[in-house]
Amino acid sequence: MPIAQAREIAPARRLENVRYAIRDLACIADEVARQGHKILPLNIGDPLNFDFQTPAHMIEAVYKAMRDGKNGYSSSSGIPPALDAIRGEAARKGITNIQDIFVTSGVSETVDICLTALLNPGDNLLTPCPDYPLYSAVLAKIEIGLNTYYLNEEDGWQPDLDDIKRKITPRTRGIVLINPNNPTGSVCTRKMLEQIAELARQHNLIIFADEIYDKLIMDDDPHVAMASVAPDVPVITFGGLSKNYLAPGWRIGWGIASGEASVIKPYLEGVNKLLRSRLCANHPEQYAIKPALEGPQDHLLEVKRKLRGRRDLTMKWCADTSRVSCVAPRGAFYAYPSIEIPEGDDVFVTELIRQKHVMVVHGSGFGQRPGTKHFRIVFLPDEKTLTSAYAAIADFMRERYA
Ligand SMILES: Cc1ncc(COP(=O)(O)O)c(C=O)c1O
Repeated sequence: MPIAQAREIAPARRLENVRYAIRDLACIADEVARQGHKILPLNIGDPLNFDFQTPAHMIEAVYKAMRDGKNGYSSSSGIPPALDAIRGEAARKGITNIQDIFVTSGVSETVDICLTALLNPGDNLLTPCPDYPLYSAVLAKIEIGLNTYYLNEEDGWQPDLDDIKRKITPRTRGIVLINPNNPTGSVCTRKMLEQIAELARQHNLIIFADEIYDKLIMDDDPHVAMASVAPDVPVITFGGLSKNYLAPGWRIGWGIASGEASVIKPYLEGVNKLLRSRLCANHPEQYAIKPALEGPQDHLLEVKRKLRGRRDLTMKWCADTSRVSCVAPRGAFYAYPSIEIPEGDDVFVTELIRQKHVMVVHGSGFGQRPGTKHFRIVFLPDEKTLTSAYAAIADFMRERYA
């Protein structure tokens, strides 16, 4: 007779601190959907859920790669034409002193590998607050405590430089800068980048510059790459196809390592060890990188035109709605309004899903200054859909807080 296993299989204790508010809300949404309601998902930054399409020439390139038999493993760093194209793109952005380039399964994997390769027990890494929760999830997984620095709402969500200075300890190894920012949509000034680079020089830090939204700047000002203002400083610039090139499901991201060779090379050996141990990124999809970066960029005009209109509509709603105020986002496709309500923003968000079937993400899921409350809106849907979502949120607030 087979022996029944008596004890439950418990997950590792270190996972207790792994949170991913954006997708964790899905359980509540599932419950509401089971009751027969259609959920409007303003919670996940996937343009393909709305009226955006992956450029056709990229799809053709992947299809051709599959037909041509590029279905085995690739080299661990990525295929040469993709690496050349990323190098060319880095040069166009003024990034010099490049020491390595590698392709990964989305920026998610770049983050996982780069953080894991850097941090020893007791070390810390400065991450923004609010932050894109992948960073804190990876840090929890590798058992590194959080050391967050605030973004300053009063200063258009620029990093709070004084807070960064206060938080640097002898065990701080690096700093994460998300620019354009998720969840605030802010874009760093050149001066801010220079000041952060100077701190990195003084304290021997590596900078992880997450620039996955760098082509989605809604106004005319160009995006300045962190690595371009500090060629001497160790920087890993993160980019990918998910956002700028509307292909999040392909899971293609990359890292561009720059800085003084003698300083960054030992760390890159660690990164490459991990790259080899996970074999490679999706192979056929890598064939879209060169056509994406070097081919027609027309889709970006259309995407930015739509985003500008949707951002402006969002800002008008924020201005017209009591209890709500918002710093205008300049990049990416997120708005991060502040709300004045007599309960937690997590309760606000779960009740909004239950009662109006609109899904946004609570500020406490990204981290925020004590006493403040926010929610993140993904303003990717068309204007008609956004208008009805905003009307539903306004009704909800009137009914609940009048
Ligand atoms: C700031 C930021 N970094 C990284 C990612 C993950 O991107 P990928 O799809 O390339 O894994 C996201 C996804 O939303 C993001 O917002």
